[in-house]
Amino acid sequence: MAKVQVAQISVPEGWIDFAIGQPHVDILPLEQMTQAAEHRFKQGDRNILQYGMQQGSANFRTTLSEFLSKEYSLAVDPDHLFITAGISQALDQICSLHTKPGDTVIVEEPSYFLALSIFADHKLKVVGTPIDENGLIIEALEERLNKHRPIFVYSIPTFHNPAGFTLSGDRREKLVRLSEKYDFLIVADEVYQLLAYTDSPPSPMVYYDTSKRVLSLGSFSKILAPGLRLGWIHADPSLLEPFIVCGHLDSGGGLNPFVSSIVNSVIELGIQEEYLNFLKATYRERVVAMCGALRKHIPALTFTDPGGGYFIWSCLSDGTDVEGMLVKTKKHRVGFQPGIKFSSMNGLRNYLRLSFAFYGVEDLLKGVERLSRVFI
Ligand SMILES: Cc1ncc(COP(=O)(O)O)c(C=O)c1O
Repeated sequence: MAKVQVAQISVPEGWIDFAIGQPHVDILPLEQMTQAAEHRFKQGDRNILQYGMQQGSANFRTTLSEFLSKEYSLAVDPDHLFITAGISQALDQICSLHTKPGDTVIVEEPSYFLALSIFADHKLKVVGTPIDENGLIIEALEERLNKHRPIFVYSIPTFHNPAGFTLSGDRREKLVRLSEKYDFLIVADEVYQLLAYTDSPPSPMVYYDTSKRVLSLGSFSKILAPGLRLGWIHADPSLLEPFIVCGHLDSGGGLNPFVSSIVNSVIELGIQEEYLNFLKATYRERVVAMCGALRKHIPALTFTDPGGGYFIWSCLSDGTDVEGMLVKTKKHRVGFQPGIKFSSMNGLRNYLRLSFAFYGVEDLLKGVERLSRVFI
C-alpha cells in the first residue's frame, strides 16, 4: 500500500533538510495537550463546543493576557486582543479588510516567502525595502514612501524569518513616526517574539504605537504546536473592530473556540511556560552547535549568530548563486532554502537560509558536514 502523507511536509528517508522551518513532530507536546484537554473536559462545560464569541472568549483572552504580560513584563489588556487562527489567517484577513487588488504594500527584503504568497493571492503590488542587522533601514523605507503609498508595511521585527535580525527600539519608534507621516498601517509579524535564546528583544511593536496604526500578530505555532491553528492580534480596540464585526465571524463565530479552551488550560496549568522554557533551552543548544559547526567546516559562509527564532541566514560573499548548489546538495542528501525565495525583487541569490529547529544536535552536525562537501 502506498505510504499516506500525514503532515504538510515529508522528508525523504536519510535526508537532513535545513530548509524545514517547523518543529519536529518528536518534540510536539502530545502528553501535555492530553493533560490540558482532560483538565478542560472534566469541567463539563458544553460551551466549549458552541459557536464562540467573535473576538475570542473573554475567559481565554484574560488567560492569554496574563501569560503575555508575564512574558513581556508589560501589561496586556484582554480587550486589546483578538483571537485568530494563526498569523497566516490573520494576514489573509488583514488583506481582505484593508486592501483591494492593485494596492501597494511594502515588505522587507528579504521577507517571509509565504506571506509574499498571501499578498499575491490578494493581487497586491509588493515593494521591497532593505534591512540590516538592526532590521528595517529607515532611510531606505522613507525613500520608498516618497514614491509609493502603501496600505501597510509588513515587518517581521523580532528574530526575522529568514534573516534572524531584530528591529532596534530606536528604529521601532522611527517606523511608527513614518506611519504617522505617510499614513499607513504597520503589520508586525511577531511569530518568534517569545523564542529568545540570549538577550530579551525589544517589546512587541504594539507598545511603540502612538497613533493606533500597529497590528502585532502573535501565534502558538512556534511556542506550542502549529496544528492548533491559534494566534492573536494585539492592537488598539479601534483597529480590532473591523476584524470582529465582519460577515465571516458573524456567520461562523469566533475562530477556534474549542482549541482556545484547551490552550486556556495549557496556560492555566503552567504547561505553556514550562514548554516554552524547554523549547528555548533546546533551540539555544542547537543554535550554538550549528553556528560552531558552520564556522569550523564551511568558512566560506558568513552569518550572524541568531539570538532567537529558527534560522541562520548565511551569505556567500563571492556572490555565488546558491540555486545551482541544490543539485549537488541533493547528492549528499542535505537541503537548504535558497535566498531568492525570500526576495520580492528576484535577488538574494547568494544567500542560504538554514533552519536549526527541525533536527537535534547530532543531525545538525551531520548535516553541516554533508553540506561542507558541496563547498570543496
Ligand atoms: C514569519 C512567519 N510568519 C508566520 C508564520 C506562520 O504562522 P502561523 O502558523 O501562525 O500561521 C511563520 C511560520 O513559519 C513565519 O516564519
